Amino acid sequence: MAYKIAILISGDGSNMLNILEAYKKGQIKSKIVTIVSNNPNSKGLKKAKKYGVITKVINSKDFEYLLSLHLSKYKVNFICLAGFMKILSKKFLEGWEKKIINIHPSLLPAFKGLDTHKRALKMKVKYSGCTIHFVNNKLDSGEIIDQEIVKVLDSDNKNSLKKKILMKEHKLYIRVIKKLEKSNE
Ligand code: GRF
Repeated sequence: MAYKIAILISGDGSNMLNILEAYKKGQIKSKIVTIVSNNPNSKGLKKAKKYGVITKVINSKDFEYLLSLHLSKYKVNFICLAGFMKILSKKFLEGWEKKIINIHPSLLPAFKGLDTHKRALKMKVKYSGCTIHFVNNKLDSGEIIDQEIVKVLDSDNKNSLKKKILMKEHKLYIRVIKKLEKSNE
């Protein structure tokens, strides 16, 4: 099934731009309807505007209420979180079961939460990677949909690891969207 997708971001938005690019090239069937950020200074948002997609900043204590209004206005039926740094409440998640996915830069269930790469390096892991999972009301704990693995080298630091994993994230996000489109046909 082709979805009507909203992508929620807070920062650079490289995953979001990669999904927009895939959409533009017709690599995914779903439509990217809107990009929403809770951060008015999100770099990604400015870049998204160039694609002519509807962008929206919601920087308010009523974030979820305003988000719901925005999503219904554009008939969004699927949400991709991509570097979105706000936790969605249990109340908001009701009705969106298996309709919200998130990308996390580790091989979950390892290294949930923040500072993932720093902690992975400290533990001297030999492999790390990224995970896309359905969002539930526990942080980075929903059902895993798919993962990509990278080898961690002795020479890696936080930045090199982040860069390597981000490249895999881009690949993974498109693969997962295609997989979900197919499984819902
Ligand atoms: C990614 O590493 C993602 O896994 C994590 O936040 C980062 C966002 O990167 N949740 P970008 O904003 O997509 O460039």
